[in-house]
This record gives sequence, C-alpha cells and structure tokens, in this order.
Amino acid sequence: MEIDPTTLEARSRHLLMTGLVVPRPIAWVSTVDADGAVNLAPYSFFALVSSAPPTVVVSVGNRAGREKDTLANVRATGELVVNVVSRELVEAMNASSVESAPDHDEYAFAGVTPAPSRVVRAPRVAEAHAHLEARVTRIVPVENDDGGVTNHVIFARVVHVQVDDALFTPPHRVDARGLDPVARLAGLGYAAMGDLFDLPRPEVPQAT
Ligand SMILES: Cc1cc2nc3c(=O)[nH]c(=O)nc-3n(C[C@H](O)[C@H](O)[C@H](O)COP(=O)(O)O)c2cc1C
Repeated sequence: MEIDPTTLEARSRHLLMTGLVVPRPIAWVSTVDADGAVNLAPYSFFALVSSAPPTVVVSVGNRAGREKDTLANVRATGELVVNVVSRELVEAMNASSVESAPDHDEYAFAGVTPAPSRVVRAPRVAEAHAHLEARVTRIVPVENDDGGVTNHVIFARVVHVQVDDALFTPPHRVDARGLDPVARLAGLGYAAMGDLFDLPRPEVPQAT
C-alpha cells in the first residue's frame, strides 16, 4: 500500500501514524501550576533525543477550548517529571488521562501518591520505579499547512534521575525486565516487554 497522508482524514492519519511508530514509550508527566497544584497525565509522543545533555521531548496536542494542563504548567513553571509506567501501573496511568478541569486531582483519581522530587517542584509518582526530573529548555510549535499550531513539542533537560535500587547496578545498568515498562500502540493498544536480546555492532572486516 502506498499512502499520501494528506489524502486521509484526521482520525485515519492519526491511527496510521501511531500504528507505524510503535511501540512508543509513555511519559507519565507530573507538573505543578504556578500555585503548586499538581497535575498528572500520560504522553506517548515522547522520546529521548540526546544523552549529552540528557534531553527528552514530549509532544502535547491541542485540546479544543484550552491548552492541556501539562503544557500550561510547564509554560508557568519550566519543570516536569517523567514517571516510568511499569506494567502494574498501567490502569492508574490510563485513569490519569481523563479529560478534566485543571483543578481535578489525577493522583487521587488514579489511586497513586505524589512524593517530593529532589530538584524540581513537580512531585513524583511514588509508586513508579524510576523518575526523570527535568527542566524545560524550549517549547516548539508544530504547524500544519495553513499555519495553525497542532502540537507543542516540549524539550526538557533531565537534571535528576531516580531508579529503584533493586533495578539498578552502578554505574549505569538498568534492569529493563524488572522495570517492565508499558508502551503505546495505536488506538487503545498497548505492548509489554517481549523478548530481550543483545546484538553486537558490526565492524568493517579487516583486509587480509
Ligand atoms: C497512553 C496515552 C498516551 C497519550 N499520549 C498523548 C500524547 O502524546 N499527546 C497528547 O497530547 N495527548 C496524549 N494522551 C492524552 C492525554 O493524556 C490527555 O489529553 C490528558 O487529559 C491530558 O491531561 P492534562 O490536560 O492534564 O495535560 C495520551 C493518553 C494516553 C492514555
């Protein structure tokens, strides 16, 4: 099948693209507003784009009427926490995606606990096994052909990392199986960790 994405209506284009860029890790993003009120929501338009400096991106789509709270909060405070979604937290993560008023407490609704972070004001999800505390470095709008903004890509530099001791072997090794992250597919689809394997990088054969 050859597809010109401009010929698709928006829903089909979304399902096609999110069905092909898979599996997507999920950033479960904690923020606070200017008054310190907490917010929590999942974002799977999420990627690591640099390790030096350690930088992640989260893309926030438009919501009719008002900006998503995550975007409004990072504009106000410049900070966020990415909580890793392990398999046992997937229901809570999903609950926190509810479209709700800014003052809605997604932690209580999802049944998880806010815990203090080390260097940013936004709290961590206490039940998560790893946390990336980050400061926003830029927010880049994504425009469509008529100049309308459809998404905002938040670039954030990771300034502090927490990994549960049981999942970490210093100086850098994380137990991916133990972390058990859940990933997003298209629509209502999710994926859990499957087979894990190593693949050595190739070398150019030496001439004999
Ligand atoms: C697994 C999952 C991934 C999601 N990924 C995104 C995303 O990448 N971008 C986006 O704008 N919304 C995404 N959403 C929807 C938001 O979580 C939802 O709009 C939420 O209410 C936003 O909350 P906020 O206003 O508190 O930021 C996702 C939802 C789920 C369940």
